[in-house]
Amino acid sequence: MKKFYIRTFGCQMNVYDSRLVREILLSSGFVEVQNPEDADIVLSNTCSVRQKAEERGVKFLRDMKKLGKITVMLGCVAQQHGGEEVIEGVDLAFGTRSYRLIPHALQSLLNGSLLEERIMARDFGLLELTDAPLKRKATGISEFINIMQGCDNFCSYCIVPYTRGREVSRPAEHIIKEAKNLEKQGVVEITLLGQNVNSYFDGRFQFYELLQFLDRETNFLRIRFTTSHPRDLTYSVLRTIAESKSITDWIHLPLQAGSTKILKMMRRGYTKDEYIEITKNIRKVLPEATITTDIMVGFPGETEADFEETIDVVRTVKFDHAFTFIYSPRPGTAAARLKDDVTPEEKGKRLRVLIEEVNKAAHEKRVQMIGKFYEFLVEGHSRKDSSLSAGRNRGFIKGVILGNYPVGTYLLGKVIDVRGLAPIVKPIKVIDHFELFENATVSV
Ligand code: 5AD
Ligand code: SF4
Repeated sequence: MKKFYIRTFGCQMNVYDSRLVREILLSSGFVEVQNPEDADIVLSNTCSVRQKAEERGVKFLRDMKKLGKITVMLGCVAQQHGGEEVIEGVDLAFGTRSYRLIPHALQSLLNGSLLEERIMARDFGLLELTDAPLKRKATGISEFINIMQGCDNFCSYCIVPYTRGREVSRPAEHIIKEAKNLEKQGVVEITLLGQNVNSYFDGRFQFYELLQFLDRETNFLRIRFTTSHPRDLTYSVLRTIAESKSITDWIHLPLQAGSTKILKMMRRGYTKDEYIEITKNIRKVLPEATITTDIMVGFPGETEADFEETIDVVRTVKFDHAFTFIYSPRPGTAAARLKDDVTPEEKGKRLRVLIEEVNKAAHEKRVQMIGKFYEFLVEGHSRKDSSLSAGRNRGFIKGVILGNYPVGTYLLGKVIDVRGLAPIVKPIKVIDHFELFENATVSV
């Protein structure tokens, strides 16, 4: 029996895809190992959203090739290049919609009957036709569910529409079945994934309807979703969250840039003022909502004044958390034709200033949490001290729980009431500490 190892780079979508590939391989008789050194076949699910990410995935597979492993490239880099230009001799490459072909191609390669020198499956017509999502084994208390493929937005900097194709939504029935299967296995939290979940439409149901079905027909403690494009977030979705029992009031709403001029060049479809207005509307319907975001610095043509507009939005909106990036030109995108004219030094400086502002705002939000009570779902233990439980509140805010409770994983998957303590702020990172409330009730 051949042994495989799979490593995942990149976004949550890739994490989900890797789980499916794992399921497909296990059901075809392959055996998973936890160390690449022990494997006959090494698969790398790659990411190409920024150049650095691409390089990491490629280097890993190149090292594996040197060790004599059968190398298989999956994911966005495979879709874009077929692996050919980036890794000499990669054995097999499968684009983002052709994973069901893997077992057969691998068998053919192993028994010497592979007709072509190597297989490259990159046809977007090959939509997934496997039942792996419905059979999949849960690996923890919290799981992702992919509700759609691809993206039609074509933001000028972004490679995703090229690597994941046009937007296609999975039928609601399928998604609900997958969710129920996970629930049966003890999963207490699901996160629905899509590049733009708010434009979900399976021909019959819209996103808020899918949310309503899931909320009604399952008993998860928490249902989350990401990512929301600011232009497509609807009032119906916000109302659905407010009226639901389990959908959490966490909205991940990528800003990308604060300058309306840059937003236009990025083809984001909203202005600075519109973005701010949307966040106000979120807070009107969901006063306690956590708003997180993605922000980029150094897009072509971004002046100091444009960058100041980004800082202004950070100060106005006060995000609970932000993922920050330096713009990286991606071959084939519209923005790659623009002159990458912000110097690396300037980009680095803007990133540092941005992170500082993001942390200041996040810290202010944490201070507002001191003394208030929150429901924490325990997801594991503190990285620094394994005797302390760690988890998140409904709004996705992470924390370590201090106080007297049994050591170890006893609390894993449980919801407990905690009281906010003063956050500890390190120069770059905000680390939140929450205390177990005296009369804590273990409610699950
Ligand atoms: N360069 C830098 N960051 C990018 N992102 C997407 N494309 C690029 C790029 N070319 C960021 C965006 C997106 C997040 C997932 O990655 O902020 O929201
Ligand atoms: Fe890329 Fe824009 Fe689609 Fe997000 S919405 S995946 S940034 S094209």
